[in-house]
Amino acid sequence: FSLQPYNTFGVDAHARYFIEINGIEELKEALTFSKKQHLPLLLLGGGSNILLTKDFEGLAIKLNLKGISEESINDNEILVTAKAGENWHEFVMYCLQRNYGGLENLSLIPGNVGTSPMQNIGAYGTEIKDIFVNCKVLDLENLEIKTFNLEECNFGYRDSIFKQDGKGKYVILQVTFKLTQKDHHIKTEYGAIKSELENLNIQHPTIQDVAKAVISIRQSKLPDPKQIGNAGSFFKNPTIPLAQFEDLKQKFENIQGYPNGDVVKVPAGWLIEQCGWKGKQIGNVASHKLQSLVIINATGKATGKEIFDFSTEIINSVKEKFEIELEREVNII
Ligand code: EPU
Repeated sequence: FSLQPYNTFGVDAHARYFIEINGIEELKEALTFSKKQHLPLLLLGGGSNILLTKDFEGLAIKLNLKGISEESINDNEILVTAKAGENWHEFVMYCLQRNYGGLENLSLIPGNVGTSPMQNIGAYGTEIKDIFVNCKVLDLENLEIKTFNLEECNFGYRDSIFKQDGKGKYVILQVTFKLTQKDHHIKTEYGAIKSELENLNIQHPTIQDVAKAVISIRQSKLPDPKQIGNAGSFFKNPTIPLAQFEDLKQKFENIQGYPNGDVVKVPAGWLIEQCGWKGKQIGNVASHKLQSLVIINATGKATGKEIFDFSTEIINSVKEKFEIELEREVNII
């Protein structure tokens, strides 16, 4: 069964078995089947953060659980719960149409609600941990439903319990966020948003204006996976010791960094561009010409292995030039 339509890289890898799931009982049946047959599991959300490097000799499950519900806490705060299979951006738009604030900076992120806690998705000064209340999961061990609150999710930069101790142990079924109904926290500190709002001539932005600015920035430099296969940022932005950053600053005076105590976060896109990768293509794979942190399936014919090997070459050259080891952000399967 070809998984090409189910991963945004558009890689034509196959799964031995595939099933689309619309409800929890169906999901339990599929999980019981895979256990009996000793089949490895591959859980597919929006497929926007995976790289399939080979065929999958197990059961791939596409989660289609749908539905959004709301519960007002008071005249300002509201809890909004979305099932795992809801498309992330459509969910953000749903909230903005009802004037619920908190998700606007996260507009146009590919993927589904169910995978948003895995890597604590973030952009333009917001991460989901800022509005996250809890998520319900199915425990693969005993098929019981469990709730993880904010603290239990152990969120970090592109990180959560679901990438640490909880890796491969749960299926996220739904996520609840706490949003605002009137006293919105407008976040425009991120430089790109500020200048985009200036371009649009907006002085007192609403949450809808912020979303508009974010959408316009993303469209201007991030490739649309429907047109060119990609999985967003392929690597994490690395954190290095302050002392190493100061040394690098001597050699590369325009290196950028965001200090945080005695460490500095450095933009991986800049490092990759400095190594000459921006827009460079090898075979079917390239680094995007407007954002080198994004690896693209340039011809639509790339295999996962080719993309993986391309990423290894990037890691090697960044290491050689800067002595910084880039870490892949995309899940390698
Ligand atoms: N830069 C370069 N060359 C490049 C790309 C970037 O010099 O080819 C420089 C930019 O000039 C800028 C800096 O690097 O000064 C940061 O670039 P940008 O604002 O585009 O953000 P980023 O750090 O590359 C991160 C997230 C994105 C998120 C943006 C906006 C990670 C790994 N990526 O990218 O998230 O949209 O910030 O907040 O943290 C994703 O995770 O898939 C993703 C797209």
